[in-house]
Amino acid sequence: MAQDEKAPEPTVTFTAKAGFPSAPTSMEVHAAVGDIKPWDAESWAQFEQMGKPRPRAEGPLKVTGRAKYTYDVKLPGMLYGRMIGAAVAAGEIVSIDTSKAEALPGVKAVWTADSRIVRFAGQDVAAVAAVSPEVAMDAARLVKVTYKERPFAHELRAAMEPDAAPVYDLDKSPAGPDVPRKGNVVGPRGGRRSEGRGDTETGFAEADVVHEGTYYCPVHTHSPLETHGVVASWEGDQLTVYASTQGIFAVREGLAEALGIDRKNVRVLCEHMGGGFGSKLGPSATGSAFAMVACRLAKKAGAPVKLMLDRKQQHLCTGNAPSALITVKVGAKKDGTITAVDYRSYGSAGIAGGAGTAGPVNALHGKNPNLRVEEYDVYTNAGPAAPLRAPGHSQGAFGIESAVDELADKLGLDPLEVRKKNEASPVRAAQYDLGAKAIGWSRRNKKAGDMSSGGFPPAKGAKKRGLGMANGNWYVFAAADVSAQVKIHRDGSVEVIAGYQDIGTGSRTAMAVVAAEELGIETSAVTMRIGDTQFPEGPGSGGSITINSVAPVVRLAASEARTKLFALAAPLLGVTPEELDAARGKVFVAKDKARSVTFKEAAAKMSGETIDCTAKRKKQYETFRGDLTGTQFAEVEVDTETGEVRVLKMVSVNDCGFPVNPLTTQSQVIGAMIQGASWALLEDRTLDRNVGTMVNPNLEWYKIFTPADMFEAESILTPVANLGNNTSTAGIGEPPIVPTLAVIGNAVYNAIGVRIRELPITPDRVLGALAEARRRA
Ligand code: MOS
Repeated sequence: MAQDEKAPEPTVTFTAKAGFPSAPTSMEVHAAVGDIKPWDAESWAQFEQMGKPRPRAEGPLKVTGRAKYTYDVKLPGMLYGRMIGAAVAAGEIVSIDTSKAEALPGVKAVWTADSRIVRFAGQDVAAVAAVSPEVAMDAARLVKVTYKERPFAHELRAAMEPDAAPVYDLDKSPAGPDVPRKGNVVGPRGGRRSEGRGDTETGFAEADVVHEGTYYCPVHTHSPLETHGVVASWEGDQLTVYASTQGIFAVREGLAEALGIDRKNVRVLCEHMGGGFGSKLGPSATGSAFAMVACRLAKKAGAPVKLMLDRKQQHLCTGNAPSALITVKVGAKKDGTITAVDYRSYGSAGIAGGAGTAGPVNALHGKNPNLRVEEYDVYTNAGPAAPLRAPGHSQGAFGIESAVDELADKLGLDPLEVRKKNEASPVRAAQYDLGAKAIGWSRRNKKAGDMSSGGFPPAKGAKKRGLGMANGNWYVFAAADVSAQVKIHRDGSVEVIAGYQDIGTGSRTAMAVVAAEELGIETSAVTMRIGDTQFPEGPGSGGSITINSVAPVVRLAASEARTKLFALAAPLLGVTPEELDAARGKVFVAKDKARSVTFKEAAAKMSGETIDCTAKRKKQYETFRGDLTGTQFAEVEVDTETGEVRVLKMVSVNDCGFPVNPLTTQSQVIGAMIQGASWALLEDRTLDRNVGTMVNPNLEWYKIFTPADMFEAESILTPVANLGNNTSTAGIGEPPIVPTLAVIGNAVYNAIGVRIRELPITPDRVLGALAEARRRA
């Protein structure tokens, strides 16, 4: 996922137009030799395939149930595996007795874990494979595990107490001996996110108003609709794995290593998958080795094994987004100019580290010269976190963007004006007014909680409305080892073959658009083949890297194929190949468009069966924009009698370079707003303080948004020629969830005039906060 850090490659320089297509600026880009001139601001108006909304190619398969997910894979003689997780939160395994399970008719293989130390309820202990899911479940119940229990720390704040049970012995923290540690609290951590700048003491001395607040986000579990799982099948030493994964190549590497076999003998397939959000990047999951276990069970039983985790297991051991306790002190001058920010964050990734949240505070309010950042990890006896859609950033933005909203209130200023005053990004500066207009920002209550102070009609009974806004940030990462193959067949058909997987974003369609644009044909004429480790290597679908890692390579391979096609067409038109161009299914003389042959006629001149071009990724260019902005607005309605919060409308304004397919791009933005609103209002993984197990490990008590909670969601894209690669594309999967928690919190405050600093904003918290405010008044 990191940028290439090798010796500088020789470069070729292109002059291109960067920025918004309506106001481009000329700049030089230095691309690797062999790369091609990027699509730039001038290309935007000329595109025939790029930037047009179109339904995803696999849509009909999905809505008719014909799309085969891992969950749907059925192989002859297939067995059903089942993981057995630890029943206690902390302790030692004294014994595992599998004899009764093994004796059960229909049980074909049993596995037990090596580790005897238990650090969270749900940790891998054993597994079985049997002829049916029912027999496997019976067998799982017959496995008898005895534990010697230990005290545990079940939650972030409890784990920070001086007398909290230590999750790790002092010498065994995964952070290693170099990071300071006190009990379960590790840090402060160094690294990129904790960078800071300037001198906050001077900054606070210059401030007219200072606000300090502490904000809390609960643990959010990923809850993909398709739970984690694989089907593992051996033929001799050849292993085939169907995986519900964000990274088929990571699964191949990880399984080859865990099983001690050559990765050449492992093939991983993922045709369609039902979501991951960061929890399906590894070979199995952060808190379970189920995929490796399935392979071992299959080997032992001599039959394919399907092992899908159930919903409870998904909540316990496949990762989650860390909880966070963030204290922000922010100072500003009377006019809203921020002079200093002091940011301290404690996050819990369960038994793992890496709960940093400082990305947003480092990136937002860029004109503020003085920033101090401290980040700590807090261990708890809970499943290890996994990346979740802009890891740590939603929590971090909830901290800083709630605090700035409170600061604006203290200053008596419009929070949007405070954002503008401190904005360093020209792209976001252009996004504010688009969002404000779409949500109707002028209606907001000038005095929070007072519906006669803005443009809303008077409050209807107990229901109060309010508007909020907040910003988010994300980055443009790219993967290093990426290839793609483009084939033009003699009949004029085109195939793109690339070994990445679609996590549900519609990336098949996006890559077909890129190839079609380059070849001058219709997107529907391109057949995509993806999701197979036997295809040219692709990246994991994480970090929002897929489009800008794969699309430039697809374009490059298509460009090479186009060059070969032009060589065939040139003699037909009596010109040199350099004089040709392609568009609308035709190859034509650039200076005399009437002289043309069809794409098919040119392809028919092939002497062999196919034009076959494979391209390898070149380095990213020096980018016009290396990060992604975004601003978001929400209108909510709060019932002050029941405490219920309803989201009425959200608007998200985002840039992601050139959106290849705006329909699916907007679909990702809308999905992020829904997931974020759900986190802000409902989701809360709760571990029992007395026994340490999860009390809501299902989707009945762990609530997520359903159609009944849906709101009007508007995605506004601001296409920008970022010149970061030859397609000027960037990912959008993660950025739009970054501001959402803060947006909802700020809107609720504007509605009721009471600040709720702890998520989720549930009815009991709303009523409690209102009662507290009345008591004080
Ligand atoms: Mo993402 S959280 O990198 O899948």
